[in-house]
Amino acid sequence: MHRFSKRNYYSMKIVYTIGDLQSHLAVCRAQGNRVGLVPTMGALHEGHASLVRRCAAENEKTVVSVFVNPTQFNDPTDLEKYPRTPEADNSLLERCGATLVFAPSVAEMYPEPDKRQFSYAPLDTVMEGKYRPGHFNGVCQIVSKLFDAVQPDRAYFGEKDFQQLAVIREMVRRMHYPIEIVGCPIVREPDGLAMSSRNARLSAEERQNALKISQTLFESLTFAPSHTVAETRRFVEDAIAGAPGLRLEYFELVDGDTLQPIADWQCTSHAVGCITVFCGAVRLIDNITYKKP
Ligand code: PAF
Repeated sequence: MHRFSKRNYYSMKIVYTIGDLQSHLAVCRAQGNRVGLVPTMGALHEGHASLVRRCAAENEKTVVSVFVNPTQFNDPTDLEKYPRTPEADNSLLERCGATLVFAPSVAEMYPEPDKRQFSYAPLDTVMEGKYRPGHFNGVCQIVSKLFDAVQPDRAYFGEKDFQQLAVIREMVRRMHYPIEIVGCPIVREPDGLAMSSRNARLSAEERQNALKISQTLFESLTFAPSHTVAETRRFVEDAIAGAPGLRLEYFELVDGDTLQPIADWQCTSHAVGCITVFCGAVRLIDNITYKKP
């Protein structure tokens, strides 16, 4: 476990246990404050910062959880290699207006194995659900535990994890959580690459190669209006196949609400392209909206 240093933060508290978290929240609630939650796995970047800033602007108290959740990793190497930068995370969180950081240990969140099964087919069986079996079950396990512990009024998630956002919205609907789920736009590097904690694992050459992912998605936006769905899919697949150092896992054009593949542009008012690409050993995801509802 990565404990933060003993450095004091002026206005931000760091707690490690659900008991301490709830003691602080009880005081916040007694003062009539609304509480927003930003769940993260740390290795924070500007994308997370945008969620925290928005949360701080919309709620009196902003809780940020920092926890690398083992149950959502289907690949042990990915879990082991997931970047961990607690000191830098804390500085960023304080600058962005977080009031409480919850950084539990694995034993705190999983005192015994979580046997719960969350199944929201077909939302969680396509795309990431197909290629990362068990991933969304792990996401729902940890997010539901965080919701139960924090009981936020609002919770903030990035649209880069487009499918995750849809699955969490469905979990909230089915479990009747009285929580408003706020989806926040993808934040990109100046050259267009979607920000991701995994970008830190790219070599300089891989970082250059990875740029082709967002470039291709943006080019496909221009291509799509005069071409069919199948042609647009092929345009993206061919561009990635021809790019050095990239291996396409999938590119799907889906209805943005059901996440089911679309056959033509007319069958939906919300069309989204979701892509996953291996850049060397690093798995990167991104998405682009062709039609907004
Ligand atoms: O998106 C993430 O960083 C994680 O999946 C989340 C929502 C914090 C759950 O571990």
